[in-house]
Parts: sequence; structure tokens; C-alpha cells
Amino acid sequence: MWNKTSGLNQFYNDRGNEDGIPVIFIHGFPFDSSTWENQVVALPSNFRPVVYDVRGHGQSEVGDIPYSLEFLVDDLFALIEKLELQQPILCGLSMGGYIALRAYEKWPGLFKALILCDTRAEGDSNTAKINRAHAIKTIWNGGIKKYAEDSVKNLFWSENILSKIPEIVQIKSIIEKTSPDALCAALMALAARTDSTEILTGINIPTLIIVGEHDKITPPIAAEFLHENINGSELVIIKKAGHLSNLENPEEFNKALLHFLENMQ
Ligand code: MLT
Repeated sequence: MWNKTSGLNQFYNDRGNEDGIPVIFIHGFPFDSSTWENQVVALPSNFRPVVYDVRGHGQSEVGDIPYSLEFLVDDLFALIEKLELQQPILCGLSMGGYIALRAYEKWPGLFKALILCDTRAEGDSNTAKINRAHAIKTIWNGGIKKYAEDSVKNLFWSENILSKIPEIVQIKSIIEKTSPDALCAALMALAARTDSTEILTGINIPTLIIVGEHDKITPPIAAEFLHENINGSELVIIKKAGHLSNLENPEEFNKALLHFLENMQ
């Protein structure tokens, strides 16, 4: 299905019971909505899972470049408006978490709960900005396969690199199919995103924080910081998982997700 209200064709899939509580899943960079499949099929029928491809990712159009995280947040609001979702729960992984936190900051009363997975509140450090510049150069120089190869090594827990072959093939193939323009535009948007640390103590809706125990990109210490600063939040560390905790250990991830959703109401 397609949403055009944000000014470009944005792919989404609105599944489940129309009267269910909406749960919007927001994928990380540079993935797509298919990475949430294990979670979508696991939700009980009183929930309404909605997945979408962030602009420039998956099947969504690239649109005008450059990007700002603000545009990605506005696209989320456009989707909520189009589907007339009341009090949705936001579940974002990494970049999806940045989008969720900024969306909460812009419109705190809109959401019922937050699920922040393998993400952080802080903006990019200087080192992270420099690494994004290197990534852009690699992609510009036609090195998208190398970029995908390097990314996978950072994303997955080292032991899963040898055992999670279908997931690795899936992630590499998603990255390789992403437009180089969109990849570079998103990298610049991530480098320039605002810092959300100051809003954390004001979050007053149920919040679940999930992190893979071997996440090298947004490590457990970043999740602990979220947990310490978000009043009443719950923190779950997923064993045998790196940055892609929902893909690397879907059983443990779903256990935490479903426990939170069923006890939150
Ligand atoms: C992601 O998974 O969304 C990215 O690792 C986020 C980032 O690069 O900051």
C-alpha cells in the first residue's frame, strides 16, 4: 500500500485488526520494513501492526535530497494521519528509535507507548560523523557491495555471522538495492540529527528499551542511559544478539515485546 500525503510514494503495510491497538514498527538504517516480519506475525489479534519503508529505503521513493531526520519524522506523522491511527505505540530500532524519540518530542500526547530498540538518545559524536563521511566516500566510489559487507560485520554479533546466513543475505541484499543517493542523504541526516537526551526525563508513557548484549553500534551502555533517564521504563538485554536484536534473536526479542504489550494496558 502507498501513502502519498508526505509528498512522495511511501510504502507501508497495515496489517491486522483495524480496531486493534496500532503498533508502528520503524526500521533501522539502511534496512526496510521486511526486517520486522518476525514481530508482525507474532502480535496478538488485539494489536494492529503497521510497518513502512522510511523514505529512500525499501520500496519507498527517494524523493528530494538532502534529507533531514525532521523529514523522516514528518513522513511518520503523515502516515499516522492517513491511517487515522489513534494513540499508536511506536517501536523503532536504531534510526527508527531516533525517529520515535524526535516524534515524541514534537507531539508527546500522540503516543500510547514507546519501544526503543538498539538505539540511543545522544546525537553523533565527532568520530561517528567522520565515520559517516568515510561511508559516503565508499558509496560514491561505487563501493556499495563493500559498504554492505563492512556493515554486516558491525551489525551482527560475530558468532551470528557464521550461523545466521539467511538474515545476513537478507540484510546485504536490502543494502545493495538501496539507492546510493538515498544512502548518502540518510547518512548526512543521521549525522546532523538533534540530540534527544534532554527530553528523556519528561517521557511519561510506558517505555520498553531493548538492546542486543553484543550491540557494537548502540551498545548496552546507551540503553542503560535511556533506562536510567526514562521514568518507569523497562530494560531488556537480548542474549546472543548484536545490533539487529529483532532479527538475530527473534524468540527473546518477541518474548520481551509481547510481555510489555500485554502488561502495558
Ligand atoms: C541503524 O541501524 O539505524 C544505524 O546503525 C543507526 C546509525 O548509524 O546511527
